[in-house]
Amino acid sequence: MASSSRDEFSSSFGFVMAAAGSAVGLGNIWGFPTQTAENGGAAFVLVYILLAFLVGYPVLMAEFTIGRHTRMAPPDAYKKLGGGQSYFIIGLLGLVTVGIILSFYSIIAGGMVAYFVEPIGRILGLDGVADWVVSQNTTSNFVFMTIFFLFTLLIVSGGVSKGIEKWSKRFMPLLFMLFIVLVVYVLTLDGAMEGARVYLLPDFDKVFDPQLLTSAMGQAFFSLSLGVGGMLVYGSYTSDKANLTRLGWLVTLCDIGVAIIAGFLIIPAMYAASSLGTEIFDANGALISGPNLIFQVLPSLFDSMGPIGVFVAFVFFLLMSIAALTSSMSMLEAVVAYVVDRTQVPRKRATWYTGGVFWVIAVVIVFNYEALFGLVVTAATEYAQPFLGLAIVVFAGWIIRKNVLLNELKKGQPEIEKTFFYKIWPIFLKVVCPILILLVFLQTFNF
Ligand code: PFF
Repeated sequence: MASSSRDEFSSSFGFVMAAAGSAVGLGNIWGFPTQTAENGGAAFVLVYILLAFLVGYPVLMAEFTIGRHTRMAPPDAYKKLGGGQSYFIIGLLGLVTVGIILSFYSIIAGGMVAYFVEPIGRILGLDGVADWVVSQNTTSNFVFMTIFFLFTLLIVSGGVSKGIEKWSKRFMPLLFMLFIVLVVYVLTLDGAMEGARVYLLPDFDKVFDPQLLTSAMGQAFFSLSLGVGGMLVYGSYTSDKANLTRLGWLVTLCDIGVAIIAGFLIIPAMYAASSLGTEIFDANGALISGPNLIFQVLPSLFDSMGPIGVFVAFVFFLLMSIAALTSSMSMLEAVVAYVVDRTQVPRKRATWYTGGVFWVIAVVIVFNYEALFGLVVTAATEYAQPFLGLAIVVFAGWIIRKNVLLNELKKGQPEIEKTFFYKIWPIFLKVVCPILILLVFLQTFNF
């Protein structure tokens, strides 16, 4: 059961950096812009913003408060608040899901690390090594996935305040800085403005397109790291004095803000690449997305920029690697927290054991990439995460006694009773969020 000497974030700033670090990741900088390009441009952006505020934020707040109230990881936290055996299983399902997300995420993140190493190889004149590094064959995928895993393990094994918080406080400001510099630079490139125009142009016919709604909901859950325990566990390490609603706002705004601004990085960069002769449309006339976008279109843009391209590539892939690392830390922590709470195994060892299990899953996926990769991504993000999110709102709205969560919020915010949020949050958890999630979820299955 929960140990008495549980680690805690040392400051609200540290907590926000860690939680924003979890939220801001490949899902924002890569996933969001490509989803936007595929789903009617600004129409998708609008639906996404709406869902992030109407569903994402209330669910995030439920996770933070459940975590802080119970000071436990998901399965036990749900059990303690009256969830019984069924919610214990749902909690475990969340941990399995987050482990699977960690496994496929590390493979993509390994690719980012490889492309970050490549320009260094070129500068050192090691062209043969640089070519192998980005060859994307099974061996190089395996090597860089493992390197990325090791970084994640080293940081998480340091603990919450001395590992996750310390590194998030260093990485996140650096990430924001690199990000802004890159966006400003890319927008000055020839052809970039055409990309910005395409990004901003809404195709309103698509607003009620079932595909758009499913993608936007999935994106909101993935991007805010919801349903799988990472945010709940971070909540379990916050001080009672912390103003959770404000911190939750900051995390949500960072997440949405980075996603929207990333649209001004990726889509204009694609059009800039196009003006230099790179093909940016696939056989169906749609903008290239997925791995080909990041690992082919953008590198060909960087290549065609001359010497400065090496530097831009280095900054871009460093940014992506950092964004991925602060997210993977929270995925691993969700499961490590449970193992540490539950067993006598010391934290360092628990981290290596847990990480080892997920690393093996990642190895299996790397070696069966064609058959497994797409499958696990869809299963985890389009089905498991929204289902788990629905389970959490039903739990928070209907199963936990109403005052438990509201009283938890009051600890750090005695004045909260007067706020609008205090009055509407329970209604959102009980009615609005479940209905919205259910509607989107059902049409994913074509009901
Ligand atoms: N929010 C991360 C992203 O947008 O890339 C992904 C993520 C992190 C999902 C942590 C789930 C999680 F527990």
